[in-house]
Amino acid sequence: MLNLAVFGSGSGSNYQAIAEAIAAGRLNARVACVISDVKEAYILERARKFGHPAIYLDCAPFKTKLDGEAEARAIEIIKQHGGDIIALAGFMRIVKSGLLNAFAGRIINIHPSLLPAFPGLEAGRQAIEAGVKETGCTVHFVDGGIDSGPIICQRKVPVLPGDTEETLMNRIHEQEHLAYPEALQKIAEG
Ligand code: GRF
Repeated sequence: MLNLAVFGSGSGSNYQAIAEAIAAGRLNARVACVISDVKEAYILERARKFGHPAIYLDCAPFKTKLDGEAEARAIEIIKQHGGDIIALAGFMRIVKSGLLNAFAGRIINIHPSLLPAFPGLEAGRQAIEAGVKETGCTVHFVDGGIDSGPIICQRKVPVLPGDTEETLMNRIHEQEHLAYPEALQKIAEG
């Protein structure tokens, strides 16, 4: 069984999909804790509703990375709660070597494109601007790069004529909510 420490900065719909897959018996895992760098993030609210430990982590003085004291605190919190796999789910910070080394090969991320295409921010907008007919989402292991690291699974989504960033991202999100639990179950099965 996987003991998941879920990290997110925003809505937490992927966390919710993971929690629902566990409740439905489709994913052999337990949510050890949910950590957010944003105090008011809806992911923490969702976690409280599920009865999972919901923890706000102040990441100051850094704005775009998890480093220094906050990184050390994150490692401590995860260990206290018995977490052994980190699932990044909309966590808007770069994870650095302290966490990468403490959880080597055990940090997973989801990204809204078919990587290696369109890494970084606004992947939906990037896909529309590039004029591709197809995009999707990718669940992958995290290494030192941005949205790089070995791919665990991908799901495809068509880009339709007239798509806005919003309509496309909605379609991608639906697939993300299937892909993340599937990828984690793959890991749970070894
Ligand atoms: C998802 O699109 C994910 O691919 C990206 O951030 C978004 C998080 O959405 N990394 P949510 O907070 O899970 O709803």
